[in-house]
Amino acid sequence: MTNLPVGVLISGRGSNLIALHEQCRKGSIAAEIRVVVSSSAQAKGLEYARSRSIPTAVVPALMAAEPEAFAGWLLKTLRDHGVALVVLAGFLRKIPAPVIQAYRNRIVNVHPALLPAFGGKGMYGRHVHEAVLAYGCKVSGATVHIVSEEYDSGPPILQQCVPVLDDDTPESLAARILPVEHSLLPRAVGLFAEGRVHVQGRRVIIREASK
Ligand code: GRF
Repeated sequence: MTNLPVGVLISGRGSNLIALHEQCRKGSIAAEIRVVVSSSAQAKGLEYARSRSIPTAVVPALMAAEPEAFAGWLLKTLRDHGVALVVLAGFLRKIPAPVIQAYRNRIVNVHPALLPAFGGKGMYGRHVHEAVLAYGCKVSGATVHIVSEEYDSGPPILQQCVPVLDDDTPESLAARILPVEHSLLPRAVGLFAEGRVHVQGRRVIIREASK
């Protein structure tokens, strides 16, 4: 079986990139990271990608105010590397509509909460966990979902809960959720690689593994 060619988009630390790459490298999932695209030249995750000889690309700064140019650049970069599945792993820029259309149901994102709660514009990083604690939730978790035109609103593929404890801080809650992200994201990519993910409206059906 050939490996599913994946493009990973990051903006920072890259711990989800590392978790995904580890599973690819070990052969636990039939996927291969063909390119890492970063919105920032300073992203720590870029250092990891370079150290593993994974091709990298940084979104050119002048595209910040040019969504059409950004869409064209991103599509070309993904296609040049033969990417079939796009993974957003802490990527902080909105994916332009032409890219979503070109990769319909083939872009996934990992979010550190149980969507549709605590998602949407501005809900990233520490803000998510602060909002969960401010609301007084008893559980939070992680969601891997299909990316659609609106922030954090495509259908979930995998979700997993973690408890919220009485003495949690945004940091302690984030630290409990991160390992769950690191497990869910590679699992979701593995399901795509096995051709088991089927999107039917808002439902993502995971088919049985073929024997
Ligand atoms: C993760 O918490 C992810 O859910 C969110 O951004 C964070 C990225 O962390 N979308 P890392 O760069 O993968 O370490």
